[in-house]
Order: sequence, then structure tokens, then C-alpha cells
Amino acid sequence: MSESARDLRLQRAQALVGGSVADIDTPALVIDLDAMERNLQRMAAFAAERGLRLRPHAKMHKCAELARLQMAHGAVGVCVQKIDEALALAAGGVNDLYISNQVIDRAKLQRLAQAVATRPAVRWAIAVDSTEGIERLAAALAVAGVQTPGALDVFVEIDAGQNRCGVAPGDAAAALAAQVQSHAVLRFAGLQAYHGKAQHLRDPAERSAAIAHAAQAVQTTREALARQGIAVPLVTGAGSGSFLLEADSRQWGEIQPGSYLFMDADYAANQPLPGAPVFEHALFIRSQVMSRSADRAVVDAGHKSHAIDSGLPRVAHPAGLDFANGGDEHGILRPVQPGGALPGLGETVWLIPGHCDPTVNLHDVMLGVRGGLHRGHVERVLAVDARGALG
Ligand SMILES: Cc1ncc(COP(=O)(O)O)c(C=O)c1O
Repeated sequence: MSESARDLRLQRAQALVGGSVADIDTPALVIDLDAMERNLQRMAAFAAERGLRLRPHAKMHKCAELARLQMAHGAVGVCVQKIDEALALAAGGVNDLYISNQVIDRAKLQRLAQAVATRPAVRWAIAVDSTEGIERLAAALAVAGVQTPGALDVFVEIDAGQNRCGVAPGDAAAALAAQVQSHAVLRFAGLQAYHGKAQHLRDPAERSAAIAHAAQAVQTTREALARQGIAVPLVTGAGSGSFLLEADSRQWGEIQPGSYLFMDADYAANQPLPGAPVFEHALFIRSQVMSRSADRAVVDAGHKSHAIDSGLPRVAHPAGLDFANGGDEHGILRPVQPGGALPGLGETVWLIPGHCDPTVNLHDVMLGVRGGLHRGHVERVLAVDARGALG
């Protein structure tokens, strides 16, 4: 079989291993491994100190190797949002996967059920927020011939204040838990309570108020379940912007932060919560100046190399430059201060993406650099295994 252009690009990335950062083709997604490992350890230490289970969200990096690394550093497993993400990571050796999202489509549920049937060494879990969802899940497992009691962990998602998915807290959630328990192949694993919007509230007081509301929703639901005689084995949720608050509330037993590992520009714009662990930027785009005029430098990284839903990238190096959107393939740099210096043709410019998750999904690989972005070397190539796994 002839090699595709994509195979050749992957081989080219692999050939960089051991070489200098200066040889990385642009635009490229680069992980500062030293910074990433400090982030990894800080979050693991936080969870251990607080006695919390850590289940990082792997939708952020979509990489089996990084999921396994997180599990080697104390994570109990990882979350994903999509069944195909789960299948991609399971194929990469990740053996504890929670789809922290609703799936209603029968064909998708059949893929999950097949995986439960054929990969019993993997612990599988999923969220539900509807009667119909639970019945479809049970039916898919029956079609796949799964009969083992408790073969699949099921979390009932409550609307913790985001007004997106999730059943209303209280009696409605308790009714779904009882319905889950009526199917022997399903194990009621607890509640999913995640407030996504709260993560990015800049003001710590506003973030605290949002998570206090979510904690109240969890408490209300616990009480409703208790009235039905149903114990709550675990409450799972929380992201990089708010996990300290969920931990302080003592309502959650498991936290699901994802972005802490890479830290994007949007998260860095949050005012920190007092006492929260600090995470460093570890994900960068290496770009280079491809065109230059007196008042601007144009780099070869546009929004096909980085997502812009949460804002444009920030320039990490050289300092003093402002990034403006130049379209699909271009970024336009101007000095922040009038008369400030601009990089010359061919010079490297390091960008911090606005939002790491959708940025990673634009790339086949991430290049892991050891020893710093300026003088380091490429240590390894990390595959974005679940790139495009949207089903
Ligand atoms: C259900 C769920 N849990 C956790 C996270 C992790 O969030 P973050 O990457 O902001 O830490 C997300 C992100 O969107 C999510 O959807």
C-alpha cells in the first residue's frame, strides 16, 4: 500500500525526535513537557491531599499516552465526551473510561455496548439525563448480549446551573436513579454535577456563587434519593476553573479537570481563587514570520492551527506583541507599544492558544519538548488519537 501524505507527515514528526526545537516545522503544536509534568503533579497532589478521586477530562488532549500518564500519577481513570473518543482511548490502552455526557443515538450506543461486551477489562461508565436514554442504553446492552450485573456504571446528570444537559435536581433525578437500578446490567454509580459556565467566570466571587448553587443542587438531590432509600456512591464533576470550590463544598467525591494540564490563554484570564494551585502554560504553537512590513509581522499560524472560540492566541515569545486574526493561515503581529520591536522574517514566534481542547483537535500530533522551548529538544511525539472522534 502506498504511503499517504498524512503518513509521511507523521514520519517527519517522528524523525524530529532527539533533534532541536529549532527544527520543528511550523505551525506545530508543542508541549513543554517540563511545565506539563509540573501541572500533572500539582493536580495529583491536590486531589491526594483532599482525599478526592481525580478523573481528568481527556476530551482536552484526546491522547491515550497522556491519559495513561495521568493514571500513572494517581488518576482513577479519565472522562471523555463521546463514545468514539472512549473507543480511541481504549484502543490506546486506557482501561477506565467515563463518557460524562448523554448519548441517545442507537447506533452509537450499540458501539458502546459492543465495547462493553468485548472489552471486559475496561471499566466503562456513562451519564444519562432521561428515561428514554436509560431504556436505549439497556436495550443496546441486551442486543450485545451483555448480562453481567453492573457491567456498566451509570451516572445521573443533574443540571447544576448551566442550563444545558442534566435532569432537574431533586425528585426527577431520584426517579432516574431508581430506573437505572431497575436494570441489573446497569450500576447506579452516582451523580454527575458539572457547571461548565462557572469555569470561566472571571470574578472568583461569581464563580463561588455558581458552585454554591451547584452544591445546593447536589444536596437537594441527595435528599430526594435518601427519601427513596437510594445511596449516592459518588458525585463527580468540576473543571480547572472551579475544582477548589467543589472540593471545599465536600459535596463532590471526584473531580474532572481537563485544561489544567495545558492551561490555555482563556483560563489564564480568570482571576485565581485564593489558595488554588497554580498551573503553567504547557501547550504552544510554534509559528514563524513569513511576511514582514514596517508596521507588522505575519506568522504562518491562523485559525486552522488554533481555535478562536475563546479568543485569539496570546504571544508568549517574543514579548510585547499583539496577535490579530489574519484568517485561516495567517496571524498578524503588531507591537503592543507604538514603535516596539517586531520579529524578522523566518523568526520563531510562540503562541499560547485561546482554548486548548478544540486547538488539539486540529492537529494529528503534539510534539513533546524537553528542556524548554528555546533550547530544548524534541523528546517524543504524542498522537492525538481521538482527533475527529465526534460520534
Ligand atoms: C463534563 C465535563 N467535566 C469536566 C470538564 C473539564 O473542564 P476543563 O477543561 O475546563 O477543566 C469538562 C469540559 O468541558 C466537561 O464538559
